Amino acid sequence: MITGTGRAVPAYAMPNADFAAIGIDTSDEWIRERTGIRQRYIARDGETCVSLAADASRQAMARAGVAPEDIDLIVFGTCSPDKLLPASGVELQAQIGAVNASAFDLNAACTSFVYGVSVAEGFIAAESARTVLVIGAEKLSGIINWKDRNTCVLFGDGAGAAIMQRAQGGKGVVSRFMRSDGHLASLLYRPKGGSAEPVTPEILAEGSHLVAMAGRETFKHAVRSMNEALDRALADAGLTGDDIDLLIPHQANLRIIEATAKHGHMPMDKVFVNVDRYGNTSAGSVPIALDEAMQSGRIQPGMKVMLVAFGAGFTWASAIHQF
Ligand code: ACO
Repeated sequence: MITGTGRAVPAYAMPNADFAAIGIDTSDEWIRERTGIRQRYIARDGETCVSLAADASRQAMARAGVAPEDIDLIVFGTCSPDKLLPASGVELQAQIGAVNASAFDLNAACTSFVYGVSVAEGFIAAESARTVLVIGAEKLSGIINWKDRNTCVLFGDGAGAAIMQRAQGGKGVVSRFMRSDGHLASLLYRPKGGSAEPVTPEILAEGSHLVAMAGRETFKHAVRSMNEALDRALADAGLTGDDIDLLIPHQANLRIIEATAKHGHMPMDKVFVNVDRYGNTSAGSVPIALDEAMQSGRIQPGMKVMLVAFGAGFTWASAIHQF
């Protein structure tokens, strides 16, 4: 079960209006109407994926009453690690002093945190870990193409963290679902710059080491997949949308969120939305929203909360948590 959460974003909030200053042919109206996004946070001055994750982790540990040395496992969800080697999880381990932990990265893009919740739950159920730190953190500003208006307006930087421990008194994850479909990888990916085609001056010049996305196709699959993830976790738990007190969907686009809520017959007042302030923070999206919901009192003891996400791969997943 989740016993503490935290979140961190960079200091600089970039409003839609600021894209004009960097030569992007877009408008505040277009971005708000198509996505619901008003601003996103962009890392500067030494703010990194791991430093944001460390800030979020310290909050989660304090709220769970857990010391760094109590952590047995760190599952670090990201698709924009500070370095490709070693894993961001071990860099985080060093920064927070989790000296007794093992750590690894998990890349399911925007679905990473929801995958991470299932992974943590599995380790705890197998009694291989008692206290797990699950992270969703990104510095997407370092991997997006700042010349491509189709993508650069959508994403932001940020991190969320959760401490997970053994379920008690009926609390904890009551159902979960995970899927992927690698046939659709090239709809949202970084075409080059990995070990298959290492970076060359030509790759750098054409920007094919950066995020490229077929927006309309991705949108359709996002709606279909989020709907499936919602249905499957509900069916597995023997619940309906009426039983869910709060839906926390991946914050990519307000229209995708509204379509998911409609499919689940959930009124928007039972759906957590913060895409307007953060944009799409990929792996950071669900845990940032979860922490905001916890700290603002939207989540109360006894509530059933559903997490649902979709991301590059494609990957999609859900989890229902009894608080
Ligand atoms: N400003 C102004 N115009 C723009 C911009 C922009 N920033 N971006 C695109 N346009 C233009 C396009 O060029 C196009 O013009 P055209 O008709 O002359 O060709 C027009 O706007 C419409 O483009 P569409 O792609 O049809 O716009 P759509 O309504 O589909 O919205 C969007 C685009 C917001 C990208 C949408 O498709 C979407 O949200 N897709 C899913 C994105 C997503 O969720 N990605 C993340 C998944 S998770 C992960 O792992 C990262």
